[in-house]
Amino acid sequence: MASEARILIAPSVLAADFANLGQQVRDATAAGADLIHVDIMDGRFVPNISFGEAVVDAIRGCTSLPLNVHLMIEEPDAMLPRFMKSVSDQVIVHAEACRHLHRTVGSIMEKGCQAGVAINPATPLAAVEEVLPLLDLVLVMTVNPGFGGQVFIPQALSRVRRLKEIIRREGYKAQVEVDGGVKADHTAVDSVRAGATVLVAGTAIFNKQEPVADALARLRETVRQA
Ligand code: DX5
Ligand code: ZN
Repeated sequence: MASEARILIAPSVLAADFANLGQQVRDATAAGADLIHVDIMDGRFVPNISFGEAVVDAIRGCTSLPLNVHLMIEEPDAMLPRFMKSVSDQVIVHAEACRHLHRTVGSIMEKGCQAGVAINPATPLAAVEEVLPLLDLVLVMTVNPGFGGQVFIPQALSRVRRLKEIIRREGYKAQVEVDGGVKADHTAVDSVRAGATVLVAGTAIFNKQEPVADALARLRETVRQA
Protein backbone atom coordinates (compact mmCIF):
# COMPACT_ATOMS: atom_id res chain seq x y z
CA MET A 1 0.00 0.00 0.00
CA ALA A 2 1.54 3.32 -1.03
CA SER A 3 0.83 6.12 1.45
CA GLU A 4 -1.04 9.16 0.06
CA ALA A 5 0.49 11.91 2.19
CA ARG A 6 3.99 13.15 1.56
CA ILE A 7 6.17 11.91 4.40
CA LEU A 8 8.69 14.40 5.72
CA ILE A 9 12.02 13.16 7.06
CA ALA A 10 13.69 15.19 9.79
CA PRO A 11 17.25 14.05 10.59
CA SER A 12 18.06 14.76 14.25
CA VAL A 13 21.47 16.35 14.63
CA LEU A 14 21.71 15.03 18.18
CA ALA A 15 23.31 11.96 16.59
CA ALA A 16 25.59 13.96 14.28
CA ASP A 17 29.35 14.25 14.65
CA PHE A 18 29.46 17.53 16.57
CA ALA A 19 33.04 18.16 15.46
CA ASN A 20 31.71 18.28 11.88
CA LEU A 21 28.24 19.59 12.53
CA GLY A 22 28.07 22.05 9.63
CA GLN A 23 29.11 19.41 7.11
CA GLN A 24 26.66 16.88 8.53
CA VAL A 25 23.81 19.39 8.22
CA ARG A 26 24.87 20.20 4.65
CA ASP A 27 25.05 16.46 3.85
CA ALA A 28 21.53 15.88 5.19
CA THR A 29 20.24 18.87 3.22
CA ALA A 30 21.90 17.71 -0.01
CA ALA A 31 20.57 14.19 0.56
CA GLY A 32 16.98 15.46 0.47
CA ALA A 33 16.01 15.90 4.11
CA ASP A 34 12.80 17.90 4.53
CA LEU A 35 13.54 19.44 7.92
CA ILE A 36 16.44 19.50 10.35
CA HIS A 37 15.41 18.31 13.83
CA VAL A 38 17.19 20.13 16.62
CA ASP A 39 16.96 18.76 20.18
CA ILE A 40 17.36 21.30 22.98
CA MET A 41 17.86 19.59 26.35
CA ASP A 42 18.31 21.49 29.58
CA GLY A 43 19.39 18.79 32.04
CA ARG A 44 16.19 19.36 34.01
CA PHE A 45 13.22 18.37 31.89
CA VAL A 46 15.41 15.54 30.63
CA PRO A 47 18.54 14.14 32.27
CA ASN A 48 20.86 15.42 29.55
CA ILE A 49 22.20 18.70 28.17
CA SER A 50 22.56 19.03 24.39
CA PHE A 51 23.23 22.52 23.04
CA GLY A 52 21.65 25.95 22.97
CA GLU A 53 20.83 28.99 20.94
CA ALA A 54 24.28 29.63 19.47
CA VAL A 55 24.46 26.15 17.99
CA VAL A 56 20.92 26.43 16.60
CA ASP A 57 21.88 29.72 14.93
CA ALA A 58 24.98 28.09 13.46
CA ILE A 59 22.90 25.21 12.10
CA ARG A 60 20.47 27.68 10.54
CA GLY A 61 23.42 29.18 8.69
CA CYS A 62 24.26 25.80 7.11
CA THR A 63 20.90 24.95 5.56
CA SER A 64 17.93 26.53 3.88
CA LEU A 65 15.61 23.88 5.35
CA PRO A 66 13.19 24.77 8.14
CA LEU A 67 14.40 23.75 11.58
CA ASN A 68 12.16 21.47 13.63
CA VAL A 69 13.15 22.74 17.07
CA HIS A 70 12.26 20.29 19.86
CA LEU A 71 12.47 22.04 23.22
CA MET A 72 12.96 19.54 26.03
CA ILE A 73 13.22 22.25 28.64
CA GLU A 74 11.41 23.25 31.82
CA GLU A 75 9.43 26.51 31.74
CA PRO A 76 10.03 27.13 28.04
CA ASP A 77 8.29 30.54 27.93
CA ALA A 78 11.31 32.52 29.06
CA MET A 79 13.59 30.72 26.59
CA LEU A 80 11.26 30.80 23.59
CA PRO A 81 12.50 34.08 22.04
CA ARG A 82 15.96 32.55 21.62
CA PHE A 83 14.51 29.85 19.40
CA MET A 84 12.02 31.85 17.35
CA LYS A 85 14.38 33.81 15.13
CA SER A 86 13.15 32.47 11.80
CA VAL A 87 9.51 32.31 10.78
CA SER A 88 10.19 29.27 8.64
CA ASP A 89 11.05 27.22 11.74
CA GLN A 90 8.76 24.95 13.69
CA VAL A 91 8.97 25.33 17.45
CA ILE A 92 7.82 22.44 19.62
CA VAL A 93 7.25 22.62 23.38
CA HIS A 94 6.41 19.73 25.69
CA ALA A 95 2.88 19.69 27.10
CA GLU A 96 4.33 18.39 30.40
CA ALA A 97 6.56 21.47 30.74
CA CYS A 98 3.88 24.12 30.11
CA ARG A 99 1.58 25.34 32.85
CA HIS A 100 -0.31 27.56 30.40
CA LEU A 101 0.01 25.60 27.19
CA HIS A 102 -2.57 27.64 25.29
CA ARG A 103 -0.67 30.85 26.03
CA THR A 104 2.68 29.31 25.09
CA VAL A 105 1.33 28.02 21.78
CA GLY A 106 -0.14 31.47 21.15
CA SER A 107 3.21 33.15 21.70
CA ILE A 108 4.87 30.85 19.14
CA MET A 109 2.14 31.62 16.62
CA GLU A 110 2.41 35.36 17.28
CA LYS A 111 6.04 35.24 16.18
CA GLY A 112 4.92 33.63 12.93
CA CYS A 113 6.63 30.29 13.60
CA GLN A 114 4.81 27.01 13.23
CA ALA A 115 3.66 25.71 16.61
CA GLY A 116 4.07 22.16 17.81
CA VAL A 117 3.41 20.34 21.07
CA ALA A 118 5.23 17.17 22.11
CA ILE A 119 3.91 14.50 24.45
CA ASN A 120 5.87 11.86 26.33
CA PRO A 121 4.87 8.18 26.09
CA ALA A 122 2.93 8.25 29.39
CA THR A 123 1.10 11.52 28.75
CA PRO A 124 -2.58 11.14 27.81
CA LEU A 125 -3.56 12.49 24.39
CA ALA A 126 -6.04 14.71 26.24
CA ALA A 127 -3.07 16.91 27.21
CA VAL A 128 -3.02 18.32 23.66
CA GLU A 129 -6.63 17.96 22.63
CA GLU A 130 -7.81 21.43 23.64
CA VAL A 131 -5.04 23.20 21.70
CA LEU A 132 -5.13 20.80 18.77
CA PRO A 133 -7.16 23.15 16.51
CA LEU A 134 -4.31 25.68 16.76
CA LEU A 135 -1.38 23.40 16.11
CA ASP A 136 0.71 22.79 13.03
CA LEU A 137 2.32 19.75 14.59
CA VAL A 138 1.95 17.20 17.38
CA LEU A 139 5.11 15.32 18.24
CA VAL A 140 4.38 11.90 19.71
CA MET A 141 7.47 10.67 21.54
CA THR A 142 8.21 7.07 20.63
CA VAL A 143 10.91 6.85 23.33
CA ASN A 144 11.25 8.62 26.65
CA PRO A 145 13.02 11.86 25.75
CA GLY A 146 16.61 12.63 26.65
CA PHE A 147 18.83 10.39 24.56
CA GLY A 148 19.36 9.24 21.01
CA GLY A 149 19.66 5.59 20.04
CA GLN A 150 16.86 4.21 22.21
CA VAL A 151 14.41 1.49 21.25
CA PHE A 152 11.07 2.48 19.67
CA ILE A 153 8.12 1.95 22.06
CA PRO A 154 5.48 0.05 20.02
CA GLN A 155 2.57 1.16 22.24
CA ALA A 156 3.09 4.66 20.85
CA LEU A 157 1.60 3.52 17.53
CA SER A 158 -1.93 3.31 18.85
CA ARG A 159 -1.49 6.83 20.21
CA VAL A 160 -0.51 8.05 16.73
CA ARG A 161 -3.53 6.25 15.28
CA ARG A 162 -5.98 7.72 17.81
CA LEU A 163 -4.57 11.22 17.48
CA LYS A 164 -4.71 11.04 13.70
CA GLU A 165 -8.32 9.92 13.92
CA ILE A 166 -9.25 13.00 15.98
CA ILE A 167 -7.38 15.28 13.55
CA ARG A 168 -9.13 13.72 10.54
CA ARG A 169 -12.56 13.74 12.16
CA GLU A 170 -12.33 17.38 13.19
CA GLY A 171 -10.60 18.56 10.01
CA TYR A 172 -7.58 19.99 11.85
CA LYS A 173 -4.37 20.81 10.01
CA ALA A 174 -1.86 19.39 12.55
CA GLN A 175 0.67 16.93 11.25
CA VAL A 176 1.70 14.03 13.47
CA GLU A 177 5.42 13.58 14.03
CA VAL A 178 7.14 10.60 15.64
CA ASP A 179 10.47 10.91 17.42
CA GLY A 180 12.70 8.22 18.86
CA GLY A 181 13.95 4.86 17.63
CA VAL A 182 12.69 5.35 14.07
CA LYS A 183 14.73 3.42 11.52
CA ALA A 184 14.50 2.08 7.97
CA ASP A 185 12.47 -0.91 9.17
CA HIS A 186 9.06 -1.72 10.65
CA THR A 187 9.30 1.29 12.99
CA ALA A 188 9.10 3.73 10.07
CA VAL A 189 6.57 1.63 8.16
CA ASP A 190 4.28 1.18 11.17
CA SER A 191 4.51 4.87 12.07
CA VAL A 192 3.47 5.92 8.57
CA ARG A 193 0.65 3.38 8.47
CA ALA A 194 -0.56 4.68 11.84
CA GLY A 195 -0.74 8.19 10.36
CA ALA A 196 2.57 9.92 11.11
CA THR A 197 3.66 12.25 8.33
CA VAL A 198 6.87 13.57 9.90
CA LEU A 199 9.57 11.10 10.92
CA VAL A 200 12.51 12.16 13.09
CA ALA A 201 15.58 9.96 12.70
CA GLY A 202 18.84 10.49 14.55
CA THR A 203 21.10 7.44 14.69
CA ALA A 204 19.37 5.99 11.61
CA ILE A 205 20.74 8.91 9.56
CA PHE A 206 23.93 9.98 11.35
CA ASN A 207 26.08 6.93 12.09
CA LYS A 208 29.45 5.51 11.26
CA GLN A 209 28.08 2.59 9.24
CA GLU A 210 27.01 4.48 6.13
CA PRO A 211 27.08 7.92 4.52
CA VAL A 212 24.23 10.26 5.41
CA ALA A 213 22.94 10.20 1.82
CA ASP A 214 22.71 6.38 1.76
CA ALA A 215 21.00 6.24 5.15
CA LEU A 216 18.46 8.86 4.14
CA ALA A 217 17.77 7.17 0.80
CA ARG A 218 17.18 3.86 2.57
CA LEU A 219 14.73 5.42 5.00
CA ARG A 220 12.98 7.25 2.15
CA GLU A 221 12.62 4.01 0.19
CA THR A 222 11.29 2.12 3.23
CA VAL A 223 8.69 4.82 3.77
CA ARG A 224 7.76 4.87 0.08
CA GLN A 225 6.81 1.23 0.29
CA ALA A 226 4.80 1.63 3.49
C1 DX5 B 1 15.25 12.04 22.03
C2 DX5 B 1 15.27 13.10 20.96
C3 DX5 B 1 15.31 12.54 19.61
C4 DX5 B 1 16.58 11.80 19.27
C5 DX5 B 1 16.17 10.67 18.36
O1 DX5 B 1 14.96 12.61 23.25
O2 DX5 B 1 14.11 13.90 21.05
O3 DX5 B 1 15.07 13.53 18.62
O4 DX5 B 1 17.54 12.59 18.63
O5 DX5 B 1 17.26 9.84 18.17
P1 DX5 B 1 17.11 8.38 17.55
O6 DX5 B 1 16.46 8.53 16.21
O7 DX5 B 1 18.50 7.89 17.49
O8 DX5 B 1 16.26 7.59 18.51
ZN1 ZN C 1 13.66 15.20 19.35
